[in-house]
Amino acid sequence: MGLDSPDDAGVYKLDSQTALIQTLDFLTPVTDDPYEFGQIAAANSLSDVYAMGGEPITVMNIVCFPSTDLGEDILAETLRGGLDKINESGAILVGGHSVDDKEFKYGLSVTGIVHPDKVLTNTAAQIRDTIILTKPVGTGIMSTAIKAKLASTENIKESVAVMSMLNKGAAKVMSQFDINACTDVTGFGLAGHLLEIAKGSKKCITLHSEKVPMLKNALDFANIGMVPAGAHKNRTFFKEVTHIDMGVDRALVDLMFDPQTSGGLLFSLNKKEGEKCMEKMKSDGLNAWVIGEITRDSDTGFLNII
Ligand code: CO
Ligand code: CO
Ligand code: CO
Repeated sequence: MGLDSPDDAGVYKLDSQTALIQTLDFLTPVTDDPYEFGQIAAANSLSDVYAMGGEPITVMNIVCFPSTDLGEDILAETLRGGLDKINESGAILVGGHSVDDKEFKYGLSVTGIVHPDKVLTNTAAQIRDTIILTKPVGTGIMSTAIKAKLASTENIKESVAVMSMLNKGAAKVMSQFDINACTDVTGFGLAGHLLEIAKGSKKCITLHSEKVPMLKNALDFANIGMVPAGAHKNRTFFKEVTHIDMGVDRALVDLMFDPQTSGGLLFSLNKKEGEKCMEKMKSDGLNAWVIGEITRDSDTGFLNII
């Protein structure tokens, strides 16, 4: 794809029918439950292949494990969680590598395939496109609230369910439509990843903050300052290319920049197609929300949060 406009994964054309997608990701634990951590880390790694319009075919485990501090059972449970998600994706686990490390880390290197004409990038969003998001935001804020022991069991359950959900179903629906630009929401937060599309496509995006789906209580936690440092970093990093309407609540702005783990797919398509796509998501039992639109050309790429 070239490095001028960074994308979710590397793509290498093998022949006229097939291109290879390669990506890797790994995380430090985001929950206390090793099985859930394994699921989340695997879903997070697989997501970049879906964001490119591809299908994962083989994966390899990446493990850094503090064997003097943690029991083997923790590693086994983590790998079991990962394997369950790998199986759900339809990919095959073909190997991996582990090293001893002070801090536990787990993830996957993923190889996928895609038809060379069907590769989704960040660079082709069009004026008047609708922008759709497939998972609620707030997992960074929720993790902060969990660490502060403020989150309820229900809060934790919802957050884990969102992070461990594969983007496979949403990607399948997406493949039936003419998508102009796509990425997945991770460390830069919703606003940051919208700006990847804005920059790559040289367009201005309007984000309707009140339409953005959020984890239950995430706004309450943001209001009392349970906001990870990454959210503030993101906001500062993108401030030259973002305008935030005065009427947007401060806590809501924090959610727009909240770094996500294993977030949803974020894509742009023609408005009419977008309506059909939303119907298809619904009939397939999948969540999806229209959260904004492409408004005009912009050389630098620009985000208007209203
Ligand atoms: Co990505
Ligand atoms: Co990634
Ligand atoms: Co992409």
